[in-house]
Amino acid sequence: MSWRIHLFLLVVSVQVSVIAAWTDPLDYAALRALKDIWDNVPPNWAGTDPCGDGWSGISCINNRVVSITLASINLSGQLSSDITKLAELQTLDLSYNEGMTGPLPSTIGNLAKLTSLSLVGCGFSGQIPPSIGSLERLVDLSLNSNKFVGPIPPSIGNLSNLYWLDLADNQLSGPIPVSNGSTPGLDMLVKTQHFHFGNNQLSGEIPPKLFSSNLTLIHLLLENNQLTGSIPNTLGLVQKLEVVRLDRNSLSGPVPRNLNNLISVQELFLANNMLTGPLPNLTGMNSLNYVDLSNNSFDATEIPPWFSSLQSLTSLVMENTRIWGQLPVALFSPYQLQTVALKNNRINGTLDIGSSYSNQLQLIDLQNNSIVGFTLQAGYSVQIILVDNPICDGGSTQSFCSIPQQANSSYSTPAENCTPLPCTSNKISSPSCKCAYPYTGTLFFRAPSFSNYRNSSIFASLHFELMFTFRSHGVPVDSVSLSNPTKNLDDYLHVTLQIFPSGQDSFNHTGISEIAFMMSNQIFKPPPSFGPFFFIANSYPYLSDGAEGSKKSSNTGIIIGAAVGGTVLVLLLLLAGFYAFRQKKRAETASKKSDPFASWDPNTNSGGVPQLKGAKCFSFEELKRSTNNFSETNDVGSGGYGKVYRGILSNGQLVAIKRAQQGSMQGGLEFKTEIELLSRVHHKNVVSLVGFCFEHGEQMLVYEYIANGTLKDSLSGRSGIRLDWMRRLRIALGAARGVQYLHDLANPPIIHRDIKSNNILLDERLNAKVADFGLSKPMGESERGHVTTQVKGTMKGKYIVREVKQAMDMSKDMYNLQGVLDPIVASSMSPRSIEKFVDLSLRCVQESGVNRPTMSEVVKEIESIMEMAGLNPNAESASTSASYEDGSKGVNHPYSNESMFAYSGGYLPPKLEPK
Ligand SMILES: *[C@@H]1O[C@H](CO)[C@@H](O)[C@H](O)[C@H]1NC(C)=O
Ligand SMILES: *[C@@H]1O[C@H](CO)[C@@H](O)[C@H](O)[C@H]1NC(C)=O
Ligand SMILES: *[C@@H]1O[C@H](CO)[C@@H](O)[C@H](O)[C@H]1NC(C)=O
Ligand SMILES: *[C@@H]1O[C@H](CO)[C@@H](O)[C@H](O)[C@H]1NC(C)=O
Ligand SMILES: *[C@@H]1O[C@H](CO)[C@@H](O)[C@H](O)[C@H]1NC(C)=O
Ligand SMILES: *[C@@H]1O[C@H](CO)[C@@H](O)[C@H](O)[C@H]1NC(C)=O
Ligand SMILES: *[C@@H]1O[C@H](CO)[C@@H](O)[C@H](O)[C@H]1NC(C)=O
Repeated sequence: MSWRIHLFLLVVSVQVSVIAAWTDPLDYAALRALKDIWDNVPPNWAGTDPCGDGWSGISCINNRVVSITLASINLSGQLSSDITKLAELQTLDLSYNEGMTGPLPSTIGNLAKLTSLSLVGCGFSGQIPPSIGSLERLVDLSLNSNKFVGPIPPSIGNLSNLYWLDLADNQLSGPIPVSNGSTPGLDMLVKTQHFHFGNNQLSGEIPPKLFSSNLTLIHLLLENNQLTGSIPNTLGLVQKLEVVRLDRNSLSGPVPRNLNNLISVQELFLANNMLTGPLPNLTGMNSLNYVDLSNNSFDATEIPPWFSSLQSLTSLVMENTRIWGQLPVALFSPYQLQTVALKNNRINGTLDIGSSYSNQLQLIDLQNNSIVGFTLQAGYSVQIILVDNPICDGGSTQSFCSIPQQANSSYSTPAENCTPLPCTSNKISSPSCKCAYPYTGTLFFRAPSFSNYRNSSIFASLHFELMFTFRSHGVPVDSVSLSNPTKNLDDYLHVTLQIFPSGQDSFNHTGISEIAFMMSNQIFKPPPSFGPFFFIANSYPYLSDGAEGSKKSSNTGIIIGAAVGGTVLVLLLLLAGFYAFRQKKRAETASKKSDPFASWDPNTNSGGVPQLKGAKCFSFEELKRSTNNFSETNDVGSGGYGKVYRGILSNGQLVAIKRAQQGSMQGGLEFKTEIELLSRVHHKNVVSLVGFCFEHGEQMLVYEYIANGTLKDSLSGRSGIRLDWMRRLRIALGAARGVQYLHDLANPPIIHRDIKSNNILLDERLNAKVADFGLSKPMGESERGHVTTQVKGTMKGKYIVREVKQAMDMSKDMYNLQGVLDPIVASSMSPRSIEKFVDLSLRCVQESGVNRPTMSEVVKEIESIMEMAGLNPNAESASTSASYEDGSKGVNHPYSNESMFAYSGGYLPPKLEPK
């Protein structure tokens, strides 16, 4: 369904640029009314046709307004009930506009189509209107960092599609609502994975009814409220929890004994409450990274056995918890351990950190305990504080007997091999050494899994993720700088973020809103160790398209649009010709100047420099840089040959780098043959080679980055992409065209010999791309028409041909195949087309070559099946953004691979569809 809408959108938006399109009058009237009461709307909000004239921040489908994204443009005014007249609105993002104030309209519940409401970091006040519970399609509700007061409306429990609920950093009060016979409550939100309610004034007990085994909650953030009573033991039923923050409340009583059922929890904060009874038993919670149980009134206990059994710990914080005894040596050995903060306890005996302590260990703070001795390890580099222990009595001058000066040095993104410039008029030198006006703000991480903020590699991975996200969404970002990581009183990690514009000094309204949308809607996902985050932007006074005012006549707009539409094509053709000519000239000059393959390894009997068309020779250093040092987080796949990394080249292009491992390298000659072959294939259904690296004993192939991974991942349901029958036909057609090209048009023809779902990749529009030519064979003149029958490639466990043949009964409807069909397919196809498709497939797997159709016959046949199903085989495919189902990929950490939009089928403004 959504797929059709998108296809339609595509068609419509093409027409929009050519002929006049008139925005629905009711939608226009609503926008017009909002424009009248808002200050600082984008300057191109002029004329009477917001859809046709492309008002910044407005997206339309079929001349109806479906999305308003005006984040971070200093918009000010109130959100009046005019907004609720936009009956087709799906996405509303007004985040980071402090000037947006006043209450939400009580009629907001009329926006029946709304899936995403983001009002992060504005000045909204008043109560959250109960009618919000009528927005039954809502998937994302982000009202954090405003001035909302009053209770959490119980009606939110009605939002059965809600995935993300962020109400943190407001002044909400009263109890957490749960359902009773007559009223809904938050316990009903079984699809919601995020409850972010920290920094409010919520009071009362945490209702036992809130939790059940039906919840899919992964983040429970209730920190810094006024909650009382004990922690309900139903909490132990919420098996998927990964982050639990109950700290900074007034919780009392014992911690439920079944807490250690929560074996996926990575961050556990119970600090600063009035909890009593036995120290919580964390045995078996083997995912724990960060534990903070400080400042409670637990029974005095000897150091528990779990101190030395939690192997994933990075940080153990238990100040003032009345523990005593000698610290076990094994406490210091978990390989990620960074911080042990056990101030104000009764730890006694001798401190011994052993010799195999974690090499990430940074701080052991044991102030005010009863330690009498310290077994010194030669050359240890850990900071150890034993102030106010007997060992430091009598004015010891040992370094561990004084409180160290706080080291100021902290991470800051380094310049990229260039010298920062002195800049004028408030501009700042970017990491790429250009003076510009960055968009700035602060990233707040609510529960990072680490505590060492001087670890530059972790910030380098955050930096990479930001750049990758911006690049893959095509926003005009040149570079990004992170600096000054610090921890605040709530134990959040703050990092200053500066985002520099590409190609100009400053961003325009569109650019800022797009970037802000990616941050407010959690499209950007930090590396897992950073945990849940939010972003608060500073206002940006440097918008390049200035303030409201420059107004064009809309009629001229249309005429110009039509004229330009025609000319651009011609221009592009001309440009393409000119470009090719210039490239050729350049290449000729370059080859005269220097040997472009200077790094071609001459020692490997590789038969001279390869003859390449368009593929580039990369240095090892460049590829290392582009993958953040081949970091683990950039490892996107592996196989017998080695690993595949994603990377960003210095020119900003996203790539996938296939790096052969020791032992699976080919001979130099084979490697050369392969890249020569690859560099010659250019087709929209074949993955293209960007370049290679052949130095430092490495063999790497650099391919274009294909956003949606392998067809196999989608067929198996792992990618979250829903492959209905039409999409499958389209993918089959694409793959067939790719192979046909290799057989019939490539020169020399290429036989792939390993076509399988793992070797077919899907781009952001689900176009199929044939990949992995590891076993391919170019055919020499003599071989044409007479192909070797030797079997190559991968043998599969379950033999699908046999499965289908066994289930098949030609005399029955749909050949009786319902039982072996993916239910998604079964519900989306016409029986006749599946029959024809099966006929074709079975002919393709005939034993003998003469009985198999040629690839061009296959292509024709699939085209005719598509036409029969009412599909145009030559239409562009729709984008995937509106069509994912469940985005969870089963990777076990706070941000796994979840994406709100992947999950929701929510509407992403067209500019933000993954590129
Ligand atoms: C919640 O949903 C129920 C039934 O689905 C409906 O009767 C009720 O009016 C809704 N309540 C609110 C506040 O939207
Ligand atoms: C259900 O809860 C609401 C408040 O959340 C309360 O007003 C109402 O009286 C309760 N109804 C019953 C039957 O307990
Ligand atoms: C869990 O869901 C099932 C089915 O939807 C329902 O019958 C059951 O009452 C729910 N359990 C709880 C504790 O809410
Ligand atoms: C802690 O929990 C583990 C596993 O559930 C159990 O074996 C152990 O006896 C418990 N320890 C205490 C002191 O209760
Ligand atoms: C540590 O303190 C406890 C309780 O005060 C005591 O029983 C124990 O002997 C002490 N251990 C050492 C090694 O001093
Ligand atoms: C905003 O800037 C981008 C590139 O940075 C440009 O493509 C776009 O046309 C500009 N939009 C407007 C409305 O000026
Ligand atoms: C935001 O807009 C107000 C007027 O509405 C103006 O006074 C203020 O300077 C603007 N701030 C920035 C940062 O542009």
